[in-house]
Amino acid sequence: MSRIAVCPGSFDPVTLGHLDIITRASGLFDEVIVLVSVNMMKSNFSFSLEERKNMINTVTSHLPNVHVEHFDGLLADYVKQVGAIAIVKGLRAVSDFEYEFQMALANKKLYGGAETVFLTTTAENMYLSSSVVKQIANFGGDISHFVPEPILEDIKRRLVKEK
Ligand code: PNS
Repeated sequence: MSRIAVCPGSFDPVTLGHLDIITRASGLFDEVIVLVSVNMMKSNFSFSLEERKNMINTVTSHLPNVHVEHFDGLLADYVKQVGAIAIVKGLRAVSDFEYEFQMALANKKLYGGAETVFLTTTAENMYLSSSVVKQIANFGGDISHFVPEPILEDIKRRLVKEK
């Protein structure tokens, strides 16, 4: 039986930090579904759903057991539907912990058949987030150390256009 993991997130846009977690998850599980999901606390996306999915597809094209999906319902329902055994999340710092812990417990209550697995981020990605990338890009800063190279120009073009 295939051991499936789901990596959920907003990915607005996908960063090197996300890619690191996805890559490491792909080595631990038979199949990894990167799930572009709805975060009710976020509504002002810089990138459309299609753009976010395309960017993740581009940067994970070398990982044969990774694919990208979208779901606009409860994560626990999706995980159950596809028969995944794990939800993989990256933990950057203690500040992430309370929120992630709350989600892990809620998801476990909603569907007991999967575990939330936390991978600690690498030291160089500790401070990295999609919003940090967007802020730096908006002010014309260099984001080449923060996002995967194949989507760097797309992100720059798009965020400069927003100004
Ligand atoms: O990248 P983000 O925005 O921090 O990811 C948060 C996300 C999308 C994983 C979370 O909001 C989520 O799981 N959304 C799906 C809806 C859901 O199940 N919400 C309840 C979680 S307890």
